[in-house]
Order: sequence, then structure tokens, then C-alpha cells
Amino acid sequence: MRILAIESSCDESAVAVLDETRGLLAHGLWSQVDLHRIYGGVVPELASRDHVQRLLPLVRDALATAGTAPEELQGIAYTAGPGLVGALLCGAALARSLAYGWRLPAIGIHHLEGHLLAPLLESPAPQFPHLALLVSGGHTMLIEARALGDYRLLGETRDDAAGEAFDKSAKLLGLPYPGGPQLAALAAQGRSGACPLPRPMLDRPGFEFSFSGLKTAVALAARAQPLDEQRRADIARGVQDAIVDTLCVKTLRAIEATGLSQLVVAGGVGANRELRSRLSAALAAQGGQAFFPRLEFCTDNAAMIAVAGLMRLKAGERCDADPGVRARWPLTQLRPPRAAMTGAT
Ligand code: KG4
Ligand code: ZN
Repeated sequence: MRILAIESSCDESAVAVLDETRGLLAHGLWSQVDLHRIYGGVVPELASRDHVQRLLPLVRDALATAGTAPEELQGIAYTAGPGLVGALLCGAALARSLAYGWRLPAIGIHHLEGHLLAPLLESPAPQFPHLALLVSGGHTMLIEARALGDYRLLGETRDDAAGEAFDKSAKLLGLPYPGGPQLAALAAQGRSGACPLPRPMLDRPGFEFSFSGLKTAVALAARAQPLDEQRRADIARGVQDAIVDTLCVKTLRAIEATGLSQLVVAGGVGANRELRSRLSAALAAQGGQAFFPRLEFCTDNAAMIAVAGLMRLKAGERCDADPGVRARWPLTQLRPPRAAMTGAT
């Protein structure tokens, strides 16, 4: 089976071609980061207009790179939510139109399921069941992933997501949008312990997170004295340490509670090197293993949508009659492919 996949949930237009036996044949991505930078965040209408212009050329390029004609495809996957409605509609409309014209099944994929399955593109790949730490700009979740489409939420953030905490702290330090990777780079020059910041909810049992207090602490730390380069780097280091410590403690607690030995880390913050090395070492020390997507597939991409689409199509799921996209869509509403097909719960 070979499929085309389209991702357009936010500010990245991406297209991939995935073959069941030959693997990833093409993946292209156009980032709108430069378009939104002057606004300090994503402007939904601008995002939609740019997707309209970028997606079709990306489809042409991906098919050419993959050396694939439409007749050689067995399906088209697209992100159906959650995300910006206008942006989602651009990808969904294109995917479903192409599928209609080429007489292929079209399958709407949950963006977060895509993130969760991205490590399956790597070798070795994780197996079900495993624990997943999903850390992106909009989500921070610990999930027991029992099977494709069978996800039990153990805990999530009560307020800001981990990526949001990175981005907001970066903004307070005067770093350009999107701040997460920039803050991580600056943290490398910072001194451990020079700017201790709070680690909310660490003392409480359970698997919930809270990061909204961090930005207040960062604002105070940044105000306290002249903000020279070393001080900024120390604060950045303090932010990264606080977020990474919190994520590691709760994740290891969940590993212990569930007895699972495999951990999948997914989403944009999964690109953070400190988080990757700390969790890899911690899991290895317990005889387990941590799995990550390659760096470029931690943030939004179409390869992960292709993996989810391929797995669901192979399991027999076919396009439904509902062409809708969803701005909000809890991951726990997903069902394994066959159950989804029959509507059973
Ligand atoms: O998964 P993603 O691309 O988009 C969402 O679906 O939200 O995640 C983007 C988030 C942003 O908040 C970004 O700042 C953060 O991931 N991020 C990082 C790093 N790379 C991306 N945060 C910390 N360290 C990084 N290296
Ligand atoms: Zn994402």
C-alpha cells in the first residue's frame, strides 16, 4: 500500500508519500514562520491563504520525488483536526478532491495520533502498549497507548502546555517567535542553578502538569537586575531545567505506575535535546527504552499523518461520509480502526 498525506492544521503546509514496504518516499514542508513572525503568533486567516497557495505544489513535488503516479496510490490521508478550522479545511478540501478525482479512499487523521505514531518511522520502532509523553505547543499529556486508536489519558496540563511555556518565556527574554528552540539554544550558555524557577505540582501525586506560573516567575527574574547576556542565558537555563525536570518526574512516575517499559516522546518539545537525553538515560537505567521521532518529525509534518493513515487504511478503515474538520477533538474519542468503521464504542 502507498499513500499520500497532507498536513495543514496550523502554520506548516506539508505533504508526504509513504509506502508500506519501501518506507517514506517523499516528504516536503513549507513553514509559514516568517509570515507570522511580525505578529508574534499565528494569524489564522493568513495561515489559510498561504496553505491554499502552497499545498498543491507540495503535492506535485512529493509525487515527483517519490516517482509515483496517482494510479499507484491506494489512499490519501489528511489532518482532520484538532487545529485552526480554516487551515484544516484547506488540506481536507484538497485531499478529498484529489481522492474523489483519483477514485481513492480519503481518511481524516487526528493530528495528535499522527504525533504519537511518528516514532514508527524510525528503527527500532516502539510497540504497543507503551507510555506516551505528548508535548507540543498546545498539549502536554501522558497517555497509555494500548493499541492504534486506544489511548487512555493519564494526565495533562491544567493550563499552559510545555511548548507554550517555552514560547512565552522566550518572548519575555526578547527572543523571536517561535521561541522554544531559541530558548533551548540560549539555555546551553546558561549555568545550572543560577536562576532556580518553580516546578509546580511536582509535590502532588498524579500525572497533571501546570506551567502557567512559570511565565510570572520568568517575568520577575528578567526584571530583577540588568538583563545582560549571561543573565538571559541563566534564566533560559532555569526555564528549560524547570520544564524538563517536571516532565521527567511525572513521566517516570507514570512508567512506574503502569509497569510499561517503552516510552514514546512526541510533539514539538520532543525535539528538545535535554529532554531527549534525560528521558533516554532514565528509561535505560530501568531496563526500558525511550523512542523519539527524528528531530524534523517532532514538529508538525505530513510523514506522521501518512503513518497514521497507512495503519488505519490497512486495518480496513475507509473514508466516512463526514467531510468535516474539527477545531477541537479529544484524543480519547478516537477508536481502533474497525470500531471506528462500524461506529461501535
Ligand atoms: O508539535 P508542534 O510542532 O506544534 C503543535 O502541534 O503545537 O510543537 C511546537 C512547539 C512550540 O511551542 C515550540 O516552541 C516547541 O514545540 N519546540 C521546542 C523545541 N522545538 C520546538 N521546545 C523546546 N525545545 C526545542 N528544541
Ligand atoms: Zn503538532
